Amino acid sequence: MILDGKRVSEKRLELLEEKIGESGIQPHLAMVLVGEDPASLLYINMKHRACERVGIGSISIRLPVEAGTDEIIGAVSRLNNDLQIDGILVQLPLPPHISTRAVVEAVAPDKDVDGFHPLNMGRLFMGDPNIIPCTSRGIMSLLEEYHIPVAGKRAVVVGRSIEVGKPLGMLLLFADATVTFCHSKTLDLPAHTRTADILVSAVGKARFITASMVQAGATVIDVGTNYVQGKLTGDVDFEGVSPLAGAVTPVPGGVGPMTIASLMENTFQAAWKRQCFPVR
Ligand SMILES: NC(=O)c1ccc[n+]([C@@H]2O[C@H](COP(=O)([O-])OP(=O)(O)OC[C@H]3O[C@@H](n4cnc5c(N)ncnc54)[C@H](OP(=O)(O)O)[C@@H]3O)[C@@H](O)[C@H]2O)c1
Repeated sequence: MILDGKRVSEKRLELLEEKIGESGIQPHLAMVLVGEDPASLLYINMKHRACERVGIGSISIRLPVEAGTDEIIGAVSRLNNDLQIDGILVQLPLPPHISTRAVVEAVAPDKDVDGFHPLNMGRLFMGDPNIIPCTSRGIMSLLEEYHIPVAGKRAVVVGRSIEVGKPLGMLLLFADATVTFCHSKTLDLPAHTRTADILVSAVGKARFITASMVQAGATVIDVGTNYVQGKLTGDVDFEGVSPLAGAVTPVPGGVGPMTIASLMENTFQAAWKRQCFPVR
């Protein structure tokens, strides 16, 4: 079975559009982009298009690549104080001279639609999430949409970044999976991945997960986005793995669209909370 993230995300965006229409709220998302990285520009444009699709107002704040950490934090602070803005997204990665941590921590937690602020991460790790990081939320939604059982299953997450691996592992744990985290220092990785009922790869290496690393019937979630000769490919050797797996996400058309749909859901959630339950 192909887990069609494009189709499911379309369905979720349609539902969200209806919800936003009925709510009488018009959410607004601000995206901060530093520099001219072509991949970041592409992602920002895709996010603007998704906003337009569901009825979320969106603006871009563009800063030059040589902007310093203080200048970026200044821009974020103005957005924090802007009553029109419900959600703030700082497009990552930031240039290497910037303190990403300081910028992420500068975003007001209630407007942090990426879910990367330590307060939102902390709440997620405590099992009481407020805003869930978009990729992790998207993957959990995809599993839910396809009725893939998680409780009691063995989940192996390859990758332990704070953006993907760790929050996703926590969500799987709170959904009652038995979770193993693997990383670059894991010994005998295939021995771990072959135990997985649900195998997630968030590594960033093309064709990293091969058929011999996958248990027959497993659900394989490919988070990786790698460019090989200009073509977008995941971490999973799709041709080798798909005949063996019970279910697999394609790249493109799997996790990526679900991430964007989840960003839209997070933005509406932030707007709803801020506008219906304002902190005075
Ligand atoms: N589709 C989407 O919406 C979406 C969203 C976010 C990210 N992504 C993609 O997902 C991938 C991962 O992103 P990320 O931000 O999590 O990357 P990251 O911060 O670079 O983390 C990569 C992880 O992979 C682990 N790793 C590297 N080599 C390994 C090996 N040989 N064996 C086992 N583990 C290994 C690293 O281990 P250590 O911790 O030991 O270094 C690290 O934990 C990238 O391709 C990124 O572009 C896609």
